[in-house]
Formats: sequence, structure tokens, C-alpha cells
Amino acid sequence: MNAENVRPVTRCRVCGASNWQEVVAFGDVPLANAFLEPAASYEDEPAYPLGVVSCRSCRLMSVTHVVDPEVLYRTYSYVTSGSETMTRHMEFVAEVCRERAGLAPGHLVVELGSNTGQQLAVFARDGARVLGVDPARNLTAFAQRIGIPTLPEFFTPSTAQAVGRAHGPARLILGRHVFAHIDDLAGVLAGVRTLLAPDGVFAVEVPYAVDLLEKHAFDTIYHEHLSYFLMRTLDTLFTRHGLSLFDVERLPVHGGSLLVLVGLPGVRPVTEAVGTLIAAEERAELGTDAGYQEFVRGVHTVREELPALVRSLVAEGNRVAGYGASAKGTTILNLCGLGPDEVAYCTDTTRLKQDKVLPGTHIPVRSPEHARADPPDVYLMLAWNYADEILRKEREFLRAGGRFVLPFPKPTVVSADSFR
Ligand code: TYD
Ligand code: ZN
Repeated sequence: MNAENVRPVTRCRVCGASNWQEVVAFGDVPLANAFLEPAASYEDEPAYPLGVVSCRSCRLMSVTHVVDPEVLYRTYSYVTSGSETMTRHMEFVAEVCRERAGLAPGHLVVELGSNTGQQLAVFARDGARVLGVDPARNLTAFAQRIGIPTLPEFFTPSTAQAVGRAHGPARLILGRHVFAHIDDLAGVLAGVRTLLAPDGVFAVEVPYAVDLLEKHAFDTIYHEHLSYFLMRTLDTLFTRHGLSLFDVERLPVHGGSLLVLVGLPGVRPVTEAVGTLIAAEERAELGTDAGYQEFVRGVHTVREELPALVRSLVAEGNRVAGYGASAKGTTILNLCGLGPDEVAYCTDTTRLKQDKVLPGTHIPVRSPEHARADPPDVYLMLAWNYADEILRKEREFLRAGGRFVLPFPKPTVVSADSFR
């Protein structure tokens, strides 16, 4: 472990308590997006403790250790995928935000963690003034080139003030899958309060802890994801910071997510959807230690059965490759102890990842062209959150006798016959 870049979590970043239930502990694991150049040896590869605990007071699920964001984000290899699923999703997010925030041409839309600017491009197309804020210098340069103005910074109260001075208040502030990556939630929410117009909306998209728990999808647990939120926890968080969570949409992306809509208290009525989800969490006993036991058993089962299944396929003479070198994928391979002996390569559409090797397992990443020229017998579905789209795209592979292994909620094999 590299002690200088990591610190253990002591107090809850939502409620300040320090009474934790241990949920899972995975030992030292390399960073999920730290792809490496191929090398003869990987002796100095850093690894950091990875585990999840649940706050007995507000039921925030948190990683046990926080890695310095300068290490994680200044150069970043996660690029918003240009997949059909994601493109459609971005249109949907824009539609919900437009309607809830009453967006009109000329309004300011600010996105935190704007990555390559694809989501903001949707708002810009409809006439909004847009501004991205993202610390990943390699990605903001790309966003600028496609015409999306972007500040290469972390979003802090002082960044918020500077943006407000230069551009005026924001009608919409958006944080898509960035919120779970933030340790200093108080700082970000202070910035949001500074920059948001009085009737503005802060829209936050996070992976939903209930989906993680139900699917046993422990591969979404990696160092970048500091928080796994329940609705009740989000509600507590925003209330503590002088904001009001007034509406929510439950979405299928990234294995199951929430889009929560937040404003200043009293501006908009709180919809029924908010109470409905909080009540369902109560019924599932997620306010008590017992509510997490089934997840712990499910994780254990997948970590035993998945490597056993892959090894038996290899032993029968099949060549296995990974589909998608997602952060989830690198995590599941590391946590299941699968390496190049079992998984020949991982195919991925992201140029930044191709011809590198996966963190920890050192499995090579290959382009889709390479994979088509040298297909395996079986694909391990690592980007399972895009399973529908991928299975459609790989009809030919299936028709030719190829199979896919789906890891969650329990490892299963699918072939062309599965769709008859
Ligand atoms: P994603 O689930 O978006 O992210 P995370 O890294 O947070 O787990 O990653 C999906 C990965 O799968 C991404 O690297 C792109 C890749 N991918 C393909 O290679 N082919 C595809 O058809 C799709 C949809 C994704
Ligand atoms: Zn708490």
C-alpha cells in the first residue's frame, strides 16, 4: 500500500458519525482505471485497501479508504462511452432537467465532472449557455476542442464564486456519476448553493445502493466510488446542507442509478416518488445491519462461482476473453483472481485503453477490430450494464456458437439458444 496517498475513513461524510458496520473487505487492490503500458514486470504497481462499511446512523455505504483525488483524476482514462445506451440516456437526462428546471435558451447550465463534454453538448444544442468543470486535464482539452468551454478544476466554493462572477447564476447544475466520487461533499454543496439561481435545480445522478445490493454487483466497489447512496441518505445529506431533494427518477444506467433533483427549500413541492423509495428501503431493512447480510452472501457466491466457471470453460479447451475493459471489469477480475492464464484479452472501444494492460491482472486490452479478427469461444461480460446492447451487437458471434458469461446476480452462461 502507498500510505502517503491514502487515508482511512473515520467520520461519515454525510452525518459526521463514526459508528460503522463492516460490510465487505477485499484487501489491497490496484486502482480500477490505472491501466498500464505493457512491461516485463509490474513490481511497483500500487495497491490500496478496498472495502465497504455502512454508517449505522445515516446508512451511507462508504469505502473504507480514500485515495488522493490528485492521483485518481488529473489524468483519467474513463471516457463517457459513445454507446447507443449512453447517448439515449443523455437525451433523457437533458429532457428531465429541462422540464424540472424550466430551462430556456440562454440559461446557464454547469456540469461538474463534465468529462469529454458530451452531456453538455446536448444542452448547448438546445440553446443553453454551458460550462463544464472537470479536473482531468487530458479530457477537458478534448471538450474544449469540440466547443464545450471547460474549467480544468475541482469544483470548490472558490471555483463556484469565480464561475458566478463570470457567468451569473446557474439555472441548472448537473453532476452525473461524479457525486459518488467526492469526499468533501460539504465543500461541493456550499459551491452549489453559491452558484445556483434561487429557482435553479441541482440534478445529481448516482449509482443506487439498492441495485448494488440486490444484484450483488460488487464490481462497482472501487476506490473512485467513495459513496453508495440510499435515498434516505441523500435526503439527510441535502437537508443538512440547506437544500431540498424534491424529486427522483430511477434509471437503468450503470447497473441501476438514481437521478435526484434538488433545489432550495420550499421552492418546489416534494413529489411522492421520494417517499415511496425511502419507504421501500425501510421495508428492505436497510436501516439495520441485517439488511446487508444477503448481499455479503451473494458477493461470496459470485467470488467463488465465477472463477470456477471460467476455469472449467478453459479446462474444456475454450478460449475466454473479457468484453469491455470497464473499471467494473478490472475490479471483478482482480477480486476473483482471474488473470491472463484464464482471460486471453479484454476488448474495449476506448482508444485510451487499447494496447495497455489491465491494472492488477495485466490482461492486455485489444480493439474490437482485433477481437473480430481473433475471437474467443466465450466472452466474460465485464460491461454487463450494457448487456442488451452488446448481445444485440454480437449476434454473429452468438450465431457462430460463441457464448457469454454474465456475472450477476449469479454467474450464468448464455448462447444463441438462450434467446430462442
Ligand atoms: P462503463 O460501464 O461505462 O464504465 P465503468 O468503467 O465505470 O465500469 O464502461 C464500459 C466499458 O465498456 C467502456 O470502457 C467501453 C466498453 N464498451 C465496449 O468496449 N463495447 C461496447 O459495445 C460498449 C457498450 C462498451
Ligand atoms: Zn452517516
